Amino acid sequence: MKKSRQWLLTVLGIAILLYTCKVTQYPVQRDATGRILVNPHPDPAPMSPQESLKHMYLPKGYHLQLVASEPMVSEPVAIVWDGNGVMYVAEMLTYMVNVDGTGEGAKLCTIKRLEDTNGDGVMDKATIFIDSLVLPRMMLTVGHRLLVSETNSNNIYSYEDTNGDGRADVKKLVYKNETIDNKNLEHQKSGLMWNLDNRIYVTVDQVRYTYNFKANKLTPDSLREPPGGQWGLTNDNYGRLFFSQAGSETPALNFQQNPSYGRFDFKDQYNEAFQAVWPIIATPDVQGGLLRLRADSTLNHFTACAGQSIYRGDKLPADASGDLFIPEPVGRLIRRAKVINTDGKITLVNAYDKQEFLASSDMNFRPVNTVTGPDGCMYIVDMYHGIIQESNWTRTGSYLRPQILRKGLEKNIGRGRIYRLVHDGFKPDKARPRMLDETSAQLVTYLSHPNGWWRDNAQKELVLRDDQSVVPALKTMAVSSPNQLARIHALWTLNGLNALDIETFARALKDNDPQVRKTAVWIGEDLMKTHTEVVDQLAALKDDPSPDVRFQLSLSMRYNPSEKAQAVISYLLSHNPNNEVLVQSNRVYQANLEAKAEIARTERLMREADRKLVTQGALIFKQLCATCHGMDGKGVTIGGTGMTAPILAGAKDVNGNPDKLIRILLLGLSGPIDGKKYPDVMPPLGGNDDEYIASALSYIRNDFGNKAPTVKPADVKRVRDELAGRTKGWTMAELDSIKPKPLPGRRN
Ligand code: HEC
Repeated sequence: MKKSRQWLLTVLGIAILLYTCKVTQYPVQRDATGRILVNPHPDPAPMSPQESLKHMYLPKGYHLQLVASEPMVSEPVAIVWDGNGVMYVAEMLTYMVNVDGTGEGAKLCTIKRLEDTNGDGVMDKATIFIDSLVLPRMMLTVGHRLLVSETNSNNIYSYEDTNGDGRADVKKLVYKNETIDNKNLEHQKSGLMWNLDNRIYVTVDQVRYTYNFKANKLTPDSLREPPGGQWGLTNDNYGRLFFSQAGSETPALNFQQNPSYGRFDFKDQYNEAFQAVWPIIATPDVQGGLLRLRADSTLNHFTACAGQSIYRGDKLPADASGDLFIPEPVGRLIRRAKVINTDGKITLVNAYDKQEFLASSDMNFRPVNTVTGPDGCMYIVDMYHGIIQESNWTRTGSYLRPQILRKGLEKNIGRGRIYRLVHDGFKPDKARPRMLDETSAQLVTYLSHPNGWWRDNAQKELVLRDDQSVVPALKTMAVSSPNQLARIHALWTLNGLNALDIETFARALKDNDPQVRKTAVWIGEDLMKTHTEVVDQLAALKDDPSPDVRFQLSLSMRYNPSEKAQAVISYLLSHNPNNEVLVQSNRVYQANLEAKAEIARTERLMREADRKLVTQGALIFKQLCATCHGMDGKGVTIGGTGMTAPILAGAKDVNGNPDKLIRILLLGLSGPIDGKKYPDVMPPLGGNDDEYIASALSYIRNDFGNKAPTVKPADVKRVRDELAGRTKGWTMAELDSIKPKPLPGRRN
């Protein structure tokens, strides 16, 4: 290369670097072209926590501190704190203890209670709070109780330690749904997160809950559509939820609007560059195989994205506040995303250029959760487990299995670490919360705390106590606190106490801060149910200067059938033709209404039994299949064009021989299909009953423009019987070689 050109390229390179590097970065080792030098042969042997820490790259100034590790914790997957700062750790002790995942469903898992009794920031006391659990996956603290949900179950229990020995001695069913969740554990719900709006959200299932402390009962509130997502759920300071969906390799989704208004994503809410991840070691154990690996054997795209969180504390640099952190345990890294609001439309960009916030060259680093803690720092849950994918993806014949065995990853079990992310010059808050012992008046003061953990927990405890004595203080705070977030929390707390009066509400609608006005509009949705004049009060904001407020107004009116409410929506649409989020969200909603009407028309023409199959199938599809195949059967295409699973709309097989489809659903399928390779595989669903399989298939044959006869449970039974004893998944070649059975009585 000529000297002058080289010089030009260098200048250009520096210019691009300066332009794209939004945050200073710890200098990682790079080659001449600027790429991070990757360790091509990482050692799979487990390291001590201290050793593992040395293998982590973080931006300059950031550090990790060890909070707990094995043997104190083992296979941690989620953490929460109660109002007194006691940490509860869910431990999936039976998860993938060997390459076949045997014994996974055994009642052997635990939730531990961890305490730092001397205030040095390291946990020093651990008790098994609950044992004999099946893979505990969701926790929520309410007062002295812990709400818990296990894998394969839809029931939710509350546990409490009443004699102070650190072990739960009272167990009560707070939400009863005896149906068993048959989905693979990777596809089951997570979350159970108390949001700003006093609703408790989960992923996957078409439901959110409210909780009554006195009755110790969760009440379900059905959403109009399943919210999507998989492992991990987080919210920002204003109650915006962020989901992630590893099945479709989608690091973030369904964050444009609250899921109660339906699902809505922009294809360009982030771009293809955002989907690329930058590990610093070879990551051979990638489910998608060679398709997902660069020439240097690093993961080239998000694949196991999970356990995301918005940083909401006050002990990291201010520019980290509101950023979305997304663990990627297959890439052994954590992405830091900037969340950008442009006229109400949210987009995400990587905070670094072709580099990650945190990347480890320790093969066993498996970050599966992140969360802001009471001390204002961010916590990272590192499962530190050899195999990260569930056994469905490690079966004989899979790409993964030999990779796991070659590296001996199955040998690393029983470990786990919890870290605290800190920054130079900032000290974690040592003031341990005492909310459960404090008066309600004291709790009110925490609604203006700079750390979101304190604000959220104070609001939650206040609502649980239903202590009306603080209503005057809350009203004063709602209208006159100089702190925007305090006003927002005061409003939601009042709403949670059923004590928000129309005067306070009206003043909030006129607040100088757009986020407070947006909050008031959102709350107005609840008030409208009892006060019809609220519709007019909200309508007065139709020309609000803030696009966030106008978008919320269109959403809050969406399900109000009154002429007035619908007129507000029409007004907003005609006066904001260029506001993408407002216009597109409404368009998607209308399109869904039409699609539903079309199904209803088809259903009317069908016989009763067929109709039931299709309706049941629609729910199964939205909760499970849509993760990979997309809500509209056209694949998931957020942030790029690659797809995790084939298009079902108009597909030849889908409209063709039902037996072939039944075979696929019962035992699973691995590609390629029509020459196309997908990064995921079709999981076997034979653990479900005949009606489930028949319903799912009947639905995909009668939506997305498809039209084919329904599949009957009896057909499923017949094919199931024919396949008795077989567990191996299919390839297309094998399926296509199966000759149709001669009809009885016909001579061949
Ligand atoms: C984890 C992702 C995932 C989930 C969940 C999933 N699929 Fe699939 N599905 C795939 C992939 C990937 C393929 C293509 C086979 C391959 O490449 O391994 C596929 C293939 C199929 C095919 C064959 C398509 C053809 O053209 O031959 C059908 C039919 C199908 N899936 C239906 C369903 C139904 C119905 C559900 C829900 C009950 C479902 N899938 C759930 C990933 C998934």
